[in-house]
Amino acid sequence: MVNQRISLISKLVLSIGLFYGASGAIAAPGEDSIARGKQVYNQQCAACHQAGGQGIPGSFPPQKGHTANVFNASGGMGGRDYLAHVLQYGLTGSIDVEGTSYNGNMPAWGGSLSDQQIADVLNYVLTAFGNRERLSRSFQPYTADEVNAVSGKDLSGKQVYQLRQAVVGSRGQSSGSVTSQDASVASMAAKVSLEQAIPKPIYAAVQDSGVVERLPSKSTWPGVKGAHYDALSPDGKQLMVSGFKTGNVYVMDTDNGEIQASIAIGEVVQGVKVSPDGRYGLAVAPTQGVVAIIDMETLSLVKKVSVGDTPHNIIFNKDSSLAYVTLQGEGALAVVDMTTLNKQRAIPTPGLDSPHNIDISGDGRRLWIRDFIGHVGVLDLDSGRVLKVFKVGAGHGGIDVIPNSRYVATGAISASQVTVIDADSLAIVANLEVGTGPHGVRASADGRYLYTSVTADNMITIIDMGSLEVIRQEPVDGKFPFWLAVPGNP
Ligand code: HEC
Repeated sequence: MVNQRISLISKLVLSIGLFYGASGAIAAPGEDSIARGKQVYNQQCAACHQAGGQGIPGSFPPQKGHTANVFNASGGMGGRDYLAHVLQYGLTGSIDVEGTSYNGNMPAWGGSLSDQQIADVLNYVLTAFGNRERLSRSFQPYTADEVNAVSGKDLSGKQVYQLRQAVVGSRGQSSGSVTSQDASVASMAAKVSLEQAIPKPIYAAVQDSGVVERLPSKSTWPGVKGAHYDALSPDGKQLMVSGFKTGNVYVMDTDNGEIQASIAIGEVVQGVKVSPDGRYGLAVAPTQGVVAIIDMETLSLVKKVSVGDTPHNIIFNKDSSLAYVTLQGEGALAVVDMTTLNKQRAIPTPGLDSPHNIDISGDGRRLWIRDFIGHVGVLDLDSGRVLKVFKVGAGHGGIDVIPNSRYVATGAISASQVTVIDADSLAIVANLEVGTGPHGVRASADGRYLYTSVTADNMITIIDMGSLEVIRQEPVDGKFPFWLAVPGNP
């Protein structure tokens, strides 16, 4: 830490030296870095901040004409440091940009982009969208070393928010609403014991700590680097876990957390699911456009099926004959025939450009789809039509058709609410405040309790689905709980 500080300071001194030594014109950062940064931006940032950097008012702040102002704040020194922190650790809190307020959650990229990619994307944003013209003359391109120097500090998005207030100033709303929400939740807490609310063990994949935590016992199992999505076998004896950046799928024994297998799939692994008949485990490798099929008995790779652009997650039909795969890059679903182990067809999802997570109704006739930026759509499988698209909380999230219930619930990683939709009347019935950055949502098999993994607050929030009230908020042992596996509700 001390060494990192010293090296950061020496780098800043070096860049000041360069500034005074320069002729006065803004030094154009290496065009290579900008070109690479543009690719990173289009792949990772544009879904929220938009390809032209204009953002979505109220949900995602603009980069256009704005990020340069942030950089220039405090004479270009604090702003520079702040932006490197935002990319590394994310940002959580209420901000005001050009008169519009945002109270969202910017995901941390330290775990998923390299130091070079973070430097590149900052160099791109600061020279695109009209930012170059506004940029302080002292600007020198970010380097991978400089980004590396701010890493490893274990900061939360809320701590970065404090840095923003120190650097940019605290315009915008106060945090009053958060405080009153915390107080009301605290007063509800402990109405129901953890053992009552979690009658059968559930498993949280805690991404940044590389562990799976079992609740209510709170045993923490290591050895699953980048634990991203997880899924139980139908008998509850095995847990599949995707290692986000390791490209591995792990299979754990749910008795003791022992790792039975670690199977290399691709560069990145995201959604995993076990077929209802227990025969196959599926894992998505988005950058290769494939779904890997794993034999759950031999724990070996059977086949990789090409499904389309940027697949993300999977749901099976009840008899295990078909798997539906979201294609985040295509605005469509792929249907995989589980008898021939081939892609059978694609179903377009108009109104949902980036299908992300998916669940199926109890009668198997409708698919419920959550996109990457803040919509839920319901697709009728008989007609192949999207019946309705709902606007929900900002960012991506999980979706759950709640067993024995008329409700469907979804998280929103860039907001703080879980949205509950009535599947019969096709209307939104509640937006429940659960904490910052809820992503995974899964209900108990009897549909009584909904569990949600709240990524930025490192906790599991439990909702009573009868009264639609938050009844408990339970911290997990680690950072960034991303997903939950719940027995009886795949
Ligand atoms: C899932 C949506 C999402 C993605 C993807 C995303 N952001 Fe953000 N970003 C946000 C939100 C929401 C905020 C505002 C957070 C808040 O209100 O506290 C934000 C804030 C920021 C800020 C700070 C702005 C300020 O005024 O302080 C920067 C800079 C930024 N994002 C850059 C990026 C870059 C670069 C990428 C790609 C590597 C990216 N974002 C990807 C949602 C996203």
